[in-house]
Amino acid sequence: MVTNIVQEGLDAVEKQLRDIVNSDVDVLQEAGLHIIKSGGKRLRPQLGILAYLAAGGQDVERVVPMSAAIEMVHTATLVHDDINDHSLTRRGQITVHARWGRTFALLAGDYLFTKVYEMMAPYPSEYNVIMADATTKLVEGETLQAAAAKAGNMDRETYKSIISRKTASLFEAAARMGAMLADADEDLVESLATYAYNLGLTFQIIDDILDIIGDPETLGKPVGTDIAQNRGVMAAQNGGTAVKETAVAEIEDDPIAVMMANLRESGAVDVARMQAEETAKRARAALVNVPSSPAKTEMEALITAVLQRQN
Ligand code: IPE
Ligand code: IPE
Ligand code: MG
Ligand code: MG
Repeated sequence: MVTNIVQEGLDAVEKQLRDIVNSDVDVLQEAGLHIIKSGGKRLRPQLGILAYLAAGGQDVERVVPMSAAIEMVHTATLVHDDINDHSLTRRGQITVHARWGRTFALLAGDYLFTKVYEMMAPYPSEYNVIMADATTKLVEGETLQAAAAKAGNMDRETYKSIISRKTASLFEAAARMGAMLADADEDLVESLATYAYNLGLTFQIIDDILDIIGDPETLGKPVGTDIAQNRGVMAAQNGGTAVKETAVAEIEDDPIAVMMANLRESGAVDVARMQAEETAKRARAALVNVPSSPAKTEMEALITAVLQRQN
């Protein structure tokens, strides 16, 4: 449930995302609009808008280009991520690389990334620095993940560092900039940023659980990709290589399905869920000193929604 004012902001974000994709190079235009029009939860722009409102912001238009830019970073990374992860579906649709091939998917992702400069141009430099920092962390997280999966050393510390960078940093940046645009004082900015950071950690842990127990139809993307690539929360708990060893004797026709079944029975999902509940608790605690408002209530509800999500 989002309030009217949040919905108004999200509608404006949607319009901006579509309008900014305006290339006369057909494949960039078509592939760009394909991933944007496929939908998605729009959680990150929602956080930017909510933080702005929770910090007392009155003019939601102020936060729209930044929130759209955050979603554009996310969208561009999904196009590239699906190449790296060999995923064929995203948001219930065929992925860009599956439809247009890898070269055009790389270029379409680059194109969407470059649009972020344009979207952030109206904001002062400190906002652009926050955006650049979050984007750098995101790329570092994706790279650390690929390196750890390759080396087979995905321990819990590494996993935490990866999800902090690849997912939580963008959540945090959205809320931080939203609060700053409302001229919030430093404490309030930090509270809202800490909330979003911990919500981001929770979101990614749940995402990694859904990779084991989720339904690909509901998720709109494949499951089992983390196991196939020896990474994710379960690999972290099993010290990177244990996941492989568990199932190795039992591999028959579908090794991934066997490993998923083993993991479901091992109790590892329950441990991961406890970790998600811990980070959710931190998100909740960060909101304690935020003044009451409909936006704050929505932020609290988001924590529960992220913990319970199926898609
Ligand atoms: C997918 O993010 C990538 C992760 C961080 C797990 P979302 O689940 O927010 O993707 P969309 O935008 O709703 O498709
Ligand atoms: C998605 O990560 C991309 C980023 C968070 C940067 P994942 O590979 O873990 O997520 P899905 O499962 O493809 O959405
Ligand atoms: Mg990935
Ligand atoms: Mg992926």
